[in-house]
Amino acid sequence: MDSLKGHSPAHALPPPEGASPAPQEHFKTLENAYFLGYVPRPVVLVCVGENPLAVAWHMPTNKDPFLYAVAIAKENYSHFLLEKGSDFTVNFLRADHIQDILTAGKHSGRQVDKWKLFKHISQAKALKVDALMVKEALLVYECKQERVVSFYDHSIFIGRVEIIHYKKGKLKPQKVKYPLHMGKGYFSKNAKVYTYKI
Ligand SMILES: Cc1cc2nc3c(=O)[nH]c(=O)nc-3n(C[C@H](O)[C@H](O)[C@H](O)COP(=O)(O)O)c2cc1C
Repeated sequence: MDSLKGHSPAHALPPPEGASPAPQEHFKTLENAYFLGYVPRPVVLVCVGENPLAVAWHMPTNKDPFLYAVAIAKENYSHFLLEKGSDFTVNFLRADHIQDILTAGKHSGRQVDKWKLFKHISQAKALKVDALMVKEALLVYECKQERVVSFYDHSIFIGRVEIIHYKKGKLKPQKVKYPLHMGKGYFSKNAKVYTYKI
């Protein structure tokens, strides 16, 4: 497992000489207010082995091989399962599945079998990894653990994506509506799509 001790990340270096200080007349400051970033992030359903949970903190981390990272709180049952080496799947669902996603985010697999609580989603066995996946998902990444980085209250589990499932014709940018978590109880949908030349 990687450790943070003795490591000085590049972004912790002092600002370059000549840079003016943060203009405090334009900003208020707060420490430890991670929740202030109401930045929309798609909330997905991650199945750790058989146990599903809602996850908004996730991202791609490498193209070839394709690696995908999820940040999981240490208090979660899923963290316990991941620490034991469980495979996992990342399931991207439509915004109208938000109630089942919230069910997965409210209950713990320590106490209940969440699959019995879901109203509109159902399970299937993943093809290449030892985990369940969601049949109704538009996109699924099957992941085997590649690396773990343990922090203070969360760990990042980086999976090697063994295979991707997708629903043909359903991922078009103009069509797809993902549930976007904006912190606390706030959610939005991508209402309108723009294209820019990049
Ligand atoms: C919208 C939303 C986003 C969430 N994002 C995360 C996340 O990124 N990481 C995490 O560990 N828990 C996240 N959670 C909380 C877990 O889904 C929740 O604690 C769940 O009950 C854990 O289940 P488990 O104990 O079966 O692992 C989120 C919950 C919600 C509702």
